[in-house]
Amino acid sequence: MAHPIQNRSNPTVFQMDATKLSNSAAPFQSQLIDWYDANARDLPWRSKPSLYKTVVSEFMLQQTQVKTALPYFEAWLKAYPDFKKLAQATEVQVLKSWEGLGYYSRARNLHKLAQIISKLPELPTDAKSWQAFPGIGPYAAAAVCSISFSDPSAVVDGNVVRILSRLIADTTQYKTSIEAAKAYQSLAETLLNTDRPGDHNQAMMELGATVCRKANPQCLLCPVADLCQARVEGIEGSLPKFDKIKYEKKTVNRAWIVGPRGILLHKIPDSAKRMKGLHEIPSLEQLGLPEAKSKPLLERKRSITKYRITERFFEIKPNALPIKLPPDTLWVKESAIDDLPFSGPHRKWIRELLAQHSN
Ligand code: ADE
Repeated sequence: MAHPIQNRSNPTVFQMDATKLSNSAAPFQSQLIDWYDANARDLPWRSKPSLYKTVVSEFMLQQTQVKTALPYFEAWLKAYPDFKKLAQATEVQVLKSWEGLGYYSRARNLHKLAQIISKLPELPTDAKSWQAFPGIGPYAAAAVCSISFSDPSAVVDGNVVRILSRLIADTTQYKTSIEAAKAYQSLAETLLNTDRPGDHNQAMMELGATVCRKANPQCLLCPVADLCQARVEGIEGSLPKFDKIKYEKKTVNRAWIVGPRGILLHKIPDSAKRMKGLHEIPSLEQLGLPEAKSKPLLERKRSITKYRITERFFEIKPNALPIKLPPDTLWVKESAIDDLPFSGPHRKWIRELLAQHSN
């Protein structure tokens, strides 16, 4: 049976039937907001909210879970309490503070945004204008403007897609999360509580993170369970449907080289697309070294987007290097390691390799 919130004639473009929808949109909004008022987690960007706290939290939470972001958020606000202080920081400081959160373009864009904002005499308050700022996509624009300026724009991310696809029992197979987000923008806008858009959006995020979870949705705790068509059909656990991601395996062989001047590191050059300015343990390829014959000192696995990467670290003697150091490499004393920004888990690996060395 078609759910009143949706016209099933075209399931990927949710053409709303205004009369049917008005029957469900109002209870959806009020049940959701009442639940949020009673159950919202006490998060640091929600107590005494400010535009700055909202912007920082939205940048951090773009690819990072709340639990992981929390200590970073607290430290960030101590180091850079407002846009002006952040604008005045150096890029190295900013990258260093971001280290461990990954996706460093977010840090660079947040820094740029602070420099722009601290110079603007007046700020725009609508999501469309905010999308012109660095690092602000449709989601961040809607989140920031709805929370800070009560702009009536709906956020759509993986959490929201999950809630809405279950609500209307949408069995469409989506190719990507971007495709699904686009398909759900209009339904999200239609259901938006325009009296309290910021709280409505945060309630959607909260519901997706804590109740309408990917695995084991907690329907007994859900404030909109009575409106959920997937629940009626018993298919909530299988929605939304996405094409399977094809993972690619990759191996990176790295050189652990310790000489009298310290540890040899690679600094990602400014010409790189991503992670410029960050340091890493160089790969054999970056050093122009042949494949190592020895057993690796250390092997670690990690995932980046669709790649499943095996990282192998080989001990190489400094005299295996060419006389002229390969480009973008530098010797760094062990005592200076803590002052440099690193890409991904390289600092942790260095500690592990140093511990092996001293054994
Ligand atoms: N994810 C993205 N923005 C968020 C927010 N403001 N609260 C909780 N989770 C979020």
